Amino acid sequence: MQYSQKVLDHFMKPHNIGKLENPDAEATEGSPACGDQISIFLKINPETNIIENIKFQSYGCASNIATGSIITDMAMGKTIEEAKNITWKGAADELDGLPAVKMHCSVLAVDTLKKAIKKYEIEHGLAEAETFSKKTIVEELKKVIYPGVGEDIVTLKMVKYVGFENGIAIIDVDIPKFDKFRDNVAEEIKEHLETFDEIKEVKVTI
Ligand code: FES
Repeated sequence: MQYSQKVLDHFMKPHNIGKLENPDAEATEGSPACGDQISIFLKINPETNIIENIKFQSYGCASNIATGSIITDMAMGKTIEEAKNITWKGAADELDGLPAVKMHCSVLAVDTLKKAIKKYEIEHGLAEAETFSKKTIVEELKKVIYPGVGEDIVTLKMVKYVGFENGIAIIDVDIPKFDKFRDNVAEEIKEHLETFDEIKEVKVTI
């Protein structure tokens, strides 16, 4: 696998690695695509909402460790509003790119940072917990990466239909019959959506 020098540098010597005692927010997320995990810990100044310290622990691959390292660098000293604008594509660009099949590792790291910030906002009355809807499903599908090109399936217009009724999510995806990632994508959609308590069953038609 071809990694950029920057990915290798952050993987070999990751920045901001470890755990914060008594963090103001933390989140741990696992990747449905590979089963790996990452935790992010934040110290936030309540007056300014500036992230004064941030650390991460990764139980993932080189791409995940490198992304954890770069996004913690990017978020350090930023307000939570600014840190929320960090995207997995932006993180991958900062790393001079990631292999397409490894983009989901970047998604996992950035999603964990966003979840930690969201928890902080909810706990401090800065945001309300979102009500589950079809929009929630679409947002989650934007985290499912088609490994062939390293882009999400919504952006690639592979998602033809999203339905949600009586706890059943129905997702219609357009992937050519002989595409080697067809089953991976269907499986990943299910694993992403099954994490929601509101969803009792996921039906993926491809
Ligand atoms: Fe699991 Fe990268 S985080 S393969």
